Amino acid sequence: MRITRFFISVLTLATAAFAADLTGNWLVKQESPDGNVRETYFDLKQDGTSINGVTRSAQFGERKIESGTIDAEGNVTLVAAPPNNRKGNGQKIQAKFVNGALRVTMTGRPGTQPEEVTASRAAAGAGIIERIPPPALKKVPYNGLAKTPPMGWNSWNKFAGRVTQEDVKGMADAIVSSGMKKAGYIYVNIDDTWEGMRDANGNITTNKKFPDMKGLADYVHSKGLKLGIYSSPGPKTCAGYEGSYGHELQDAKQYAAWGIDYLKYDWCSAGRVYKPEDEQAVYQKMGEALQATGRPIVYSLCQYGAVDVWKWGPEVSGNLWRTTGDIRDTWDSMSKIGFDQGRLAEYAAPGHWNDPDMLEIGNGGMTNDEYKVHMSLWSLLSAPLLAGNDLRSASKEILDILTNAEVIAIDQDPAGNQATRATQNGDLEVWVKELHDGSKAVGLFNLGAAAADISVKWGDVKIQSGKHKLRDLWAHKEVKAEADGYSANVPSHGVVLIRIAK
Ligand code: GLA
Repeated sequence: MRITRFFISVLTLATAAFAADLTGNWLVKQESPDGNVRETYFDLKQDGTSINGVTRSAQFGERKIESGTIDAEGNVTLVAAPPNNRKGNGQKIQAKFVNGALRVTMTGRPGTQPEEVTASRAAAGAGIIERIPPPALKKVPYNGLAKTPPMGWNSWNKFAGRVTQEDVKGMADAIVSSGMKKAGYIYVNIDDTWEGMRDANGNITTNKKFPDMKGLADYVHSKGLKLGIYSSPGPKTCAGYEGSYGHELQDAKQYAAWGIDYLKYDWCSAGRVYKPEDEQAVYQKMGEALQATGRPIVYSLCQYGAVDVWKWGPEVSGNLWRTTGDIRDTWDSMSKIGFDQGRLAEYAAPGHWNDPDMLEIGNGGMTNDEYKVHMSLWSLLSAPLLAGNDLRSASKEILDILTNAEVIAIDQDPAGNQATRATQNGDLEVWVKELHDGSKAVGLFNLGAAAADISVKWGDVKIQSGKHKLRDLWAHKEVKAEADGYSANVPSHGVVLIRIAK
């Protein structure tokens, strides 16, 4: 008798739970300490104990619920498919649905614990992002900027999402006091995570880490430097902050009003609303918006080298375009990226540069010889030189690498040629760059594990045999060559960089 009653009450409880219908569109809002709010929608349909539907977020797009269940106590388990085009296991999401209230356990920002957040009921269809058709293709005129590769500093490699207004001010001070400005580093670029939400008129605001962007721009300008900023053509940036999707003109005007001089425009979530074949038109849209402001703003395209950006970057008035995925502060990452760039040499020209990503020099993950390879190779490649370290505490050795005027002159050579590989013998490579005055910069690179002699024959670098004037740009001295070429002993993961006068 007692047992029967127990079963009846369990049954009643269970029916109650199942009668509670989870069906509908739910919104979960997560606010981070800087005031950024992430919105995730759960558009669910309950059928008995099983649940299906989708989750939507501007950053990760729409993801199918591959499986979902609710038990008698209202414990909900959902498995959401990986974001579009990504392989891998679905993501398990736990929630609790009791007395009509849904509480979802959400993973937070990297390094934070999951948090339980109460969802609210949302209108049907809320969270769906409509595709705005990109404009018809046309050529955006060259903006006249970046006649030599841009030089400056960017916050991402060192600070990532932790960068604040005070850091940027401090960096502007350090650029001047360390001699970086004198060496040519002018742009102070804020990367992702400065963005706040949009106000009632759709204007982009700054978050708590950047209370006064106009004041910051004025400060940076007062030092004779220029200020750069970052956004995405997608609804969200790579770090999940507001992107410029549907607000391109409005954002460009805001940047100009603040006094911004450089924009890095990073694809990120744009792939949720656009197709790869839309990329040129999408980047054109911001190129036009920037020019419509009348303010000179360097335009940096960042879409990791997809759809042969080097072929159409100039058409959208891009001054530089990333050619690779993100660099890391390791020899493997830097050397893999750098030594693979020769194939793009023909696309570099004054005003339009291949960008193999920002410098890691001084961030601690490589030896000084490796950082010299980084600096030499990027200069031979006519790459933008955007330091990515904390200049307030940089050592003399690191500053000597970053500010080597003879090496920077190779990068900033007005002809704007990009080096190519002249010879390769196992781990030993010789790269050559033609300079405007008929002289040549030649890099002897040792990618191997032990010091080695590297020799270059004049024929390899298209120089006639005979007497030539040679200068070693790291040793800062003239060096003697043979009649048919030059040889040097090069340390492991090291370089000898020479300039051969015409
Ligand atoms: C992408 C870019 C990086 C950086 C981050 C910011 O990964 O390639 O350079 O801008 O986004 O979120």
